[in-house]
Order: sequence, then C-alpha cells, then structure tokens
Amino acid sequence: MVKRTSEEKGVAKTMTIFNTEREGQIEFYKIFLPLINPSLSLDDILADDNDGVLNGNLLEFKLRVNDLNATLFQCIKYLSALRVKGKPVPANIIIIDLNGTQAFLYKSADYLAYIETIYNGGASKANTGFVGGTYNQKYDYSKQMDASKLITILKSAEWTKIHLDENCIVGWATSYYKSVPTARKEDFIGDDTGKHKTIGEIRNPSIFADYIYPYTGQSNVRFQYLMDKLNDTLQKKNLGAFYTPEAYANKSHELLRKAIARVPDGYDYVIIDRCAGTGNLEKTLTDDELSHCILSTVEYYEYKVLQELLGSKVRHIIPPIEADDTFNAGLVRGADALSLEYIENPIIKQYLDNPKCTVILFENPPYAETTSLEHQRTGKGKSSSGWKNSYVVKEMKTNIKGSATNDLGNAFIWSAFKYYLRQNTDSYIVYSPVKYWKAQHIINKRFIDGYAFNRRHFHTNIDACIMVALWSNEESNEERLILHGYDIVDSNLDTEVKLPVNRIHKLYSELYYDKRPFSDVAEDGILIGLNGLEADASVKKRITPLYSKDMLGYMVADSVGFDNPDAKSSLLVAGRYNGNGFYLHKDNYLTKLPMFCASRYITYNRQWTERARIMKSADGADRFNKNINNLDQWLRKCLLFTCLEMQNHMRSFTGSDGRFYRNELCLDGDTIASKDLAKLNTNDTEKQLLAQWQYLMAEVKKTKEYNKALTYGVYQIFVEIDTSYKDDDGNTVWNNLEVHSALQTLKKLVKEYYNKEIVPKLFEHEFLK
Ligand SMILES: C[S@@+](CC[C@H](N)C(=O)[O-])C[C@H]1O[C@@H](n2cnc3c(N)ncnc32)[C@H](O)[C@@H]1O
Repeated sequence: MVKRTSEEKGVAKTMTIFNTEREGQIEFYKIFLPLINPSLSLDDILADDNDGVLNGNLLEFKLRVNDLNATLFQCIKYLSALRVKGKPVPANIIIIDLNGTQAFLYKSADYLAYIETIYNGGASKANTGFVGGTYNQKYDYSKQMDASKLITILKSAEWTKIHLDENCIVGWATSYYKSVPTARKEDFIGDDTGKHKTIGEIRNPSIFADYIYPYTGQSNVRFQYLMDKLNDTLQKKNLGAFYTPEAYANKSHELLRKAIARVPDGYDYVIIDRCAGTGNLEKTLTDDELSHCILSTVEYYEYKVLQELLGSKVRHIIPPIEADDTFNAGLVRGADALSLEYIENPIIKQYLDNPKCTVILFENPPYAETTSLEHQRTGKGKSSSGWKNSYVVKEMKTNIKGSATNDLGNAFIWSAFKYYLRQNTDSYIVYSPVKYWKAQHIINKRFIDGYAFNRRHFHTNIDACIMVALWSNEESNEERLILHGYDIVDSNLDTEVKLPVNRIHKLYSELYYDKRPFSDVAEDGILIGLNGLEADASVKKRITPLYSKDMLGYMVADSVGFDNPDAKSSLLVAGRYNGNGFYLHKDNYLTKLPMFCASRYITYNRQWTERARIMKSADGADRFNKNINNLDQWLRKCLLFTCLEMQNHMRSFTGSDGRFYRNELCLDGDTIASKDLAKLNTNDTEKQLLAQWQYLMAEVKKTKEYNKALTYGVYQIFVEIDTSYKDDDGNTVWNNLEVHSALQTLKKLVKEYYNKEIVPKLFEHEFLK
C-alpha cells in the first residue's frame, strides 16, 4: 500500500494505492465496518466465497474496475448462488473500484431473471459481453458527501424477493429448519390439496416474507425428486430416505422383468413397494406393469405426490384414499410398513392368500444404521429412532441376534421374506449395501442376478457400493455373487464393471487377535487416545492399562466394514482407552501386521466399487497360519508399510506413570522395526522408500522442534514437526517446508507400494474379501 498525493481542481488530495485486492478490501472494511455495525467482523460478512454481504448489499472489490458489465455479471452469479443456498438476496450490488475510490450501485431486482438462472463454473470467469444497464448511483467515497451517502446505503437492509423452484427449494428448506428447529415438513411445504391443510412457509411466507415470493404451485409435485431432501431434521433421522436416480431405477427394471418372467402361466402377480417414496422406482414402468403395483410410503407429502403421479395407474395405493385422520404427525396412518397393522392390511393380504398369485417385492428400503457414524453425526443416534420400537423390529430381534437389528434396511429385508414371499417363484428385488448378505447373513436365498450402483447418486455424497439384487424365494448357500457394476456419468450409466462379492464368516477378533496374557505384567500403565498420546482424563476408559516389557503396543482392527476407518484401525504405544483391540507382543507382532494393513484398504482405494463391498475377514486364518514360514518376506513388507503409514499413531513420550514409551514401529534409530527390516531383501521400490525416509529424517533433524531423545514415526513428525499457520491472506505457511515436502512425497510412494506389494496377498489370504 502506498500513499500518493495528486491535485484535483487545485486541491491536494492524498490517495492510497493498493497492490492487491485483498489489501484494499481489508482497508475498506477497516474504515467502513465500524461506521455500519461495530460488532461485525470480516468473518461475518465473508461467508459465501464472494467479497462480502453487508446488510442488504453485495460488495465486489476490484483494484481497478475495467469492465463494469463483466463485474456486474460476476455479482449476479454470486446472488444466484445465494438463492440456491437459501440465503436472502441483497437488494443492492455495490462494485468498488479501490484505487479509484469509487463505488457503483446497482439494484439486484433489475436482474432477477439472471439471478434465477443457474451458473456452473467459477463466478469470475467468462463474464465479458454481459449486457448490463447503467448503474443507479456512483460515489467517489474520498469525498465526504459521497462517503456519507455510501454509509447510508451500506446500512440499509433490503432484499430482492426470489421465486422458489427445484434448484433452490432444498437450500431454503435447510435455512428454514435451521431458523425454526422444531418445524415439521408440513410447516414448510404444506398445501391445501388434501384433507390435512397446513399452508406451509413456501406458500405463505412469514419467516422468509422479505426474501421469497409465495410459491403458487398447487401441489408439491414439482419437487418430486427432492421430497427426501425436504424432510425436516427428525424425519431425516427416522425415514432414511435416499431417492433412486432414474438411470438406476430403469436399470433395475431389467431385474423386475426377470422376476415377472418367473410368474407361472395362468397366475396373477403383484409388485409391492412398501417404501415407494414419490414412486421413483415405478415411474417409468409400462402401464401394464403399473397395473400390478401396490405402493405405499409412510411420509405424508410423499404419499400425496405418489397419489397424484401414479394413483390412477397402479392397482392400489395404501391407504387408497385420504381420510380425515390419515395425516398423523407428518406420517400416513396405516402406511408404516413395519407395523402389525400394515402386515395385516387386507388389500395386500388378499393377494398373499391367493395361491395363484405371484408376489414380487421391489424396493429401495430406507437406510439408517443407528450405530453408524453418519447417523450419530446427525443427532442423538439410537435414541432418535422411532422405528426401533416397531412391531417388525421387535419380531426380528427374536429371530436375529446382534448388531444387524440396528439397521432399518434389514428390517425391510427380513420382513419381506418373513411375511410376504411364500412360493419358490416369488421374488424380491431390493436395493441395499451387500452387508446384509455378505457379513450379517440375514438371508440365505438364491441369487438370480444383481447390479452394483454408486451410492453417491442417491442424494448422498459418499462413494460406496449399493447392491440391487434379484432374490428367488428358495433357500441357497451361495458363497459368491457376481454383480454388474455401473456408475452414472452425465445422467447415463457408465460402462459395466464386474464386481464379485464374497461371503465372510470369521472376524479378526475371533481368530487373529492375540489374547495371550503377558508373563510379567503391571496394571498401572497408561491408556492412549486416537491421537497417540495419553487419553484425556475425562473420557470413559474401558480397558485395564497394562504395562509389560514384552508389550510392543496396542492394535485395533475392528469391524468388518470400512465405515469410519480411522477410528476402527489404530496402532498405539499402549492400550487404547476404549479397547476393541489387543496388546501386541514383541515375539509375534509381525504376524499381526496384516490386520492393520488391511484396515487401511479404503484409504488407498476410494473408488465407489470398494466401500461397502470389500470387507475384512479372518476366513483365511488356517491357510495363513500354515503358510506363515513362506510369508516371512511379505510380513516384513507389511512392517515397512506400517512404519511409513500415517494411521500408525505410535508416538514416543514419557507417560504420567513415569515410564518412557518408545515407538518401536518406526525406522528412526535402532528400533525393533529397524532390526526386523534389516532382514528384508529390498527391491528398488523399497530402496526408494527407505531413501525417502532417510531424507525426511535428515530434514527433521535440522528443525528446532526435533528431540533426539525420541524415536519418530511419520505420524509424530506430522503432528509435532510438520506444523503450519495461516498468513494474513489466509494462505498456509509451513514452518518446516523441507519436512513437509519430503512427507508429501513419501505419502505418495507409500500408497503405490501398498497397492502393489501388500494388497494382493491381503486378498489371497482373505484378510480382505
Ligand atoms: C430409500 S427411500 C426410497 C424411495 C423411493 N422408492 C426411491 O427409490 O427413490 C425409502 C423410503 O421409505 C420411506 N419410509 C421410511 N420408513 C418407512 C416405513 N416405516 N414405512 C414405509 N415407508 C417408509 C421413506 O419416507 C422413503 O421415501
């Protein structure tokens, strides 16, 4: 920033010339913010990747404005993004020319049609050529009079009302439930088309009265593909609604048609979907197929859209007509598929009781696993799940033990076979992650055919595998399924990949965890948290803190799947506070390392085809144990990987028990790992990895943070030496750039090494399956 004096009409004037936009912007806010609202900070106004929204004003700064129209278009794109996010659209657009001390005021209402358009790509790109109008006002804020006018404008809080459509309704729903946490879906999208007439916010705005025009669509059918995303917070937890995209729905019709082809001659058939939502799975069926469908869904507004879209075409919707008491706290009375009332519903029962009718269930059941991290994150976990007290879940618990009953989808799958399918030619086509068949063994039925789809396209942002399988109602003990896998690219199915799914039977904890006691042991050791240091005094400790000279550390390689992989795989210098693992003994730790290696699989294989398909198993334990002598070199490769892998959170430090805990699974000095790795016949990749490690260590030793009394692994280097801070411009500055760079290179080499040298044998010995 430099001060320059110029002459204007004979009067000397000092101007500040800025070198960067950021510098100018900060200076502008420093001068104006205290005059507008002293309690506001920069963070309050810079929330949305634009230059700031201050009351009812969107600000855009340029060092020098060289094209007002292009800058105006950039601002319009920011306003478009605010509408989509469900945020009020400021009435004023103010473009500021920093080095010219000029501000140009535009009214956003004049550009509403452009604001209600969707733009892709960066807002600052491709703006030249926009035909804007002239500005409403121009201010030279180096002059007192104009500066005062600009302050008045910046204090104003007026908004341009926008129209709701399918591009922005989800954003406004999110804002609404945030502002009114107790609100229900009816309060937001209620209409007066059914028996239950709550006129919701979108039709009669009160919270958003200044921001939106009332939505004039009579029903909610325009939002049919988004009804799951418009659920209130409570429903999101309980209904597990993730809608099927059209390309997948259509593909699964091939399975449905295979099921229809199995209907014996002369038989009627029904296609039942107990959790149809707005009918995405059925929408594109032929009229004849639709005439066999019986559909229902428990959420009231889905039910109404379902009625409107498919009511006249299908055989039945349950309940067939809306009665005065159908609306039941947001749900549809009589449509809860997990209730006894539903199972006994006479409309469905007449077909189940007809021996000359084939039953086909075709469903994408709700997905909510109360113990999953995904679910816990959104709220209270187990306590939020009304469905857990349902009739079906209670019955399922008398038949099935263990955690499988924590999964809402499993209740649908189990009850399908229990209450609906009766004959060998009956079928179930069901969308669900493979775990229910692969690991939980909820069903043992004959698999006819199936697809694997990417969960990301079901209104989530998780790349994972969802199976849609066609099951015949015949017992079978298959061990392996082959799925045809399809991702979606630009709304179409991508090319097919073949994906095997193998059943698993044994857990690591059953066959591999080392349960031997230590010969000489004390119980006054320490317990460790996930960050590798002593656990916080406040956390609940679940195991006894053992210490022994034979103890190398503690390993957790928990659960079959890869949900939350970092909490489910740990390597620590002493026991983990909440257990679920075992103490590593110095005499045989090498043979335990494949479990840790397998636990890292998803971190290095993030493709949608892997998560929720590949799991951890101990099924190969016999062969592994017999073959162990031939695996000596591979186990040492596992050791090399373990020493260089970031989730190995072993750290060297002195514990509160006064003992020095030394990280022995690292390559810094004469550790146990270093000695055991000396016996690895290193190939070129391994030589390169070791050289990179040595280079890293050499850089570490030059830093002021380095403590030569410790032995360092990559994680300890990462948290204690590879530190950084943010500079004034928000950029990250590394305190030890050489260390940071060396670590980055090492990470990349480790990934390649893992997939090439470790993974194939993990599969061969069924640590991964
Ligand atoms: C995964 S969505 C599938 C919706 C639609 N079939 C599709 O594929 O797009 C599951 C649906 O089940 C509904 N649902 C949740 N719990 C239910 C229950 N107990 N009875 C009936 N439907 C339920 C949800 O409202 C949601 O619409």
